[in-house]
Amino acid sequence: MLGHLLRAEGIDCVILERQARDYVESRIRAGVLETVTTDIMRRLGIDARMDTEGLVEDGFNLADGDRLVRIDIKALTGRHVTVYGQTELTRDLIAAAPARDLEIIFEAGDLVPHEVDGSQPSVTFTKDGVAQTIRADFIAGCDGFHGPSRRAIPAALAREYHHEYPFGWLGILADVPPCHDELIYANGPRGFALASMRSPTRSRYYIQVAQGERLEDWPESRLWDELEARFNPLSRHGVTRGPALEMSIAPLRSYVFETMRHGRLFLAGDAAHIVPPTGAKGLNLAASDVAYLSDALIDFYRQGKDDGLLAYQDRALSRIWKAERFSWTLTRLMHSFPDQNRFERRMQIADLDYIASSEAAQTSIAENYVGLPL
Ligand code: DHB
Repeated sequence: MLGHLLRAEGIDCVILERQARDYVESRIRAGVLETVTTDIMRRLGIDARMDTEGLVEDGFNLADGDRLVRIDIKALTGRHVTVYGQTELTRDLIAAAPARDLEIIFEAGDLVPHEVDGSQPSVTFTKDGVAQTIRADFIAGCDGFHGPSRRAIPAALAREYHHEYPFGWLGILADVPPCHDELIYANGPRGFALASMRSPTRSRYYIQVAQGERLEDWPESRLWDELEARFNPLSRHGVTRGPALEMSIAPLRSYVFETMRHGRLFLAGDAAHIVPPTGAKGLNLAASDVAYLSDALIDFYRQGKDDGLLAYQDRALSRIWKAERFSWTLTRLMHSFPDQNRFERRMQIADLDYIASSEAAQTSIAENYVGLPL
């Protein structure tokens, strides 16, 4: 997305991707886009498939036991979210790259950034066994939580914050109609579950699993039994079973690495921060990071001004911390914590009861869910 934003202004850039194109295009990620994100795709003119296949959602539901609390995001904020998989968005960006002269080098291994605090940074990597070097004015580290960019920043300069949750999410994707017309985030005695979708014929579900649980512990039939038990009482259509297209377990963590700039290296997205998936903020935060960063780089090249680059970290962090707060709050509200005492459980129920009865509380949730302004 950053590459496209820069190329649209005639700025040269090259994308180095560690994985093969097939891997990137088949990895299943979250699927709820804020208007901040869809607006960028629109500005780039890479919106045709998103507009035909994306589902506009005017509301979503929080379930408290067997009660559905509908958050009417359209009525409360005048806005909406779009259900369109991150994988699809990535495919669209990759497909549009050649025509826009945006080079993507897939399977670029052993990547190391060099001299990022000097005037001429570079990256070295290997492609097809051959060592290569690229020199550039700037490096954008959009390489995820495990990528090499963050490690290029000296530990003495790092300001980082970390929080782990004692559970993970088990996800399943299947070609079956969704159980409900809108998303349902459910808390109950058996923990958290989420009913989501990708299209009128493709469902995405998640349930909370204990730390250390493995995919082998969850044959498909066991997962469908659990989803039926959780969503048949809550949903309009009931759960339809079908063969899994994908199943995976993801850990939950909150993480912020505040040192998002070091010299000519800028971090964006998961390279600098992780949110737990509750609320689907991960991709959307990456999109707002690159909106700020591309504005700053475009100003630099057009007008020779570096105030945008100097302000990048503070602008990005202000929105990141608010999304961290929202994801953490929604995670705490909707999950069973193994060490939770009876009082804490009662507080969750009281919180949901308050949300159910207060338009102010619902508005606060809705404005965070659709995405805070840039
Ligand atoms: C999805 C994932 C999320 O984390 C979420 O909050 C909503 C939807 C999804 O994959 O559909």
